[in-house]
Amino acid sequence: MKKIDKELEALLVELKLKDSGYRFYVVDNHQDIASIEVFDDKTFVYLRVKDKNLLLKLQALKVGGIVFPPLTKEKLLSLFQNQNKALDIDYDIIKSKIIAKAESLPALPTVIQKLISLTSNDKSTFKEIIDELKKDQGLVGKVLKIVNSPFYGIRKEITSVERSAVLLGMSTIKNIALAAFSFDLFNKNFAVYETDSKNMWLHSFLVARISEELENLCGFEDKGGLFLAGLMHDLGKVVLVDFLTNKVSSIDEEKRLLGIDHAEVSAVILQKWNVNDKIIEAVEKHHLESDDIFYRCLYFANILANSEDLEKDVKDVSMKLGLNFADLYPRVEMIIKSDYEEFI
Ligand SMILES: [Fe+2]
Ligand SMILES: [Fe+2]
Repeated sequence: MKKIDKELEALLVELKLKDSGYRFYVVDNHQDIASIEVFDDKTFVYLRVKDKNLLLKLQALKVGGIVFPPLTKEKLLSLFQNQNKALDIDYDIIKSKIIAKAESLPALPTVIQKLISLTSNDKSTFKEIIDELKKDQGLVGKVLKIVNSPFYGIRKEITSVERSAVLLGMSTIKNIALAAFSFDLFNKNFAVYETDSKNMWLHSFLVARISEELENLCGFEDKGGLFLAGLMHDLGKVVLVDFLTNKVSSIDEEKRLLGIDHAEVSAVILQKWNVNDKIIEAVEKHHLESDDIFYRCLYFANILANSEDLEKDVKDVSMKLGLNFADLYPRVEMIIKSDYEEFI
């Protein structure tokens, strides 16, 4: 039977290595070595006794790493860092496969691309934009479904895109079209992230809506970019789910397992879509609190969308972005607390 060491178990739980796909064995004698089923770079040994013969035997069997008492968090982590370095070649192969897959994702549809360029050009007419949207009737249906959801607070049902555009504005209609298009992109199994496609999409939509509000309140000159950034910030996960075999709970864990994280993969996809550089960079940095206020908006939107204490977090974000809490709180609260069941 596999030997258990309480100290090691506790550290594995703390470092989230418990179900990581790596195998840890406690060894005190030759019999313990004999009970190890697989010897490969995912097999790690905690050698609790000072015994040169045991050590030589383990080294000859080519385990992934050996650690000795006293056991510390740093020692366990360095074991991995050493191994990661030794496995650099493998990482390169995995990374290139991930990037190839990210680049093979469907391109941004022409209708969406045109809507983005038309709405960012002051000279575009209402008719031009509506005509473009109507070229994709499937998209029109999805847009109307979202327009009529409680998110936009319109009480009477709207059955035409023209009316929606009058009520909500062209930029919002473009954003809703983007959201509707993105829905199918998230159609994957997200079990490794302990979520599903609906909730993945909804999280992205919430981040997009909150980013949009932060962008408006911060008063940037070029508006409209952060909604797209919010919507696609976690898109890299769509690719990573095909490469992860075990649950991951942090961006560092992705990096440790695959050599690349979901923020970097999202950026690869957006690059392929020819999205502007600022949006790509905001997405790439969405887990870092950068000094740039534009990038920080996305970072904070992601935090607010996952918030467990909204009032406290909005206070904190208001302070850090130089915004008024009384302006921000009701907007974020409305977005987070709306009933979304009807349109997903
Ligand atoms: Fe993320
Ligand atoms: Fe996120």
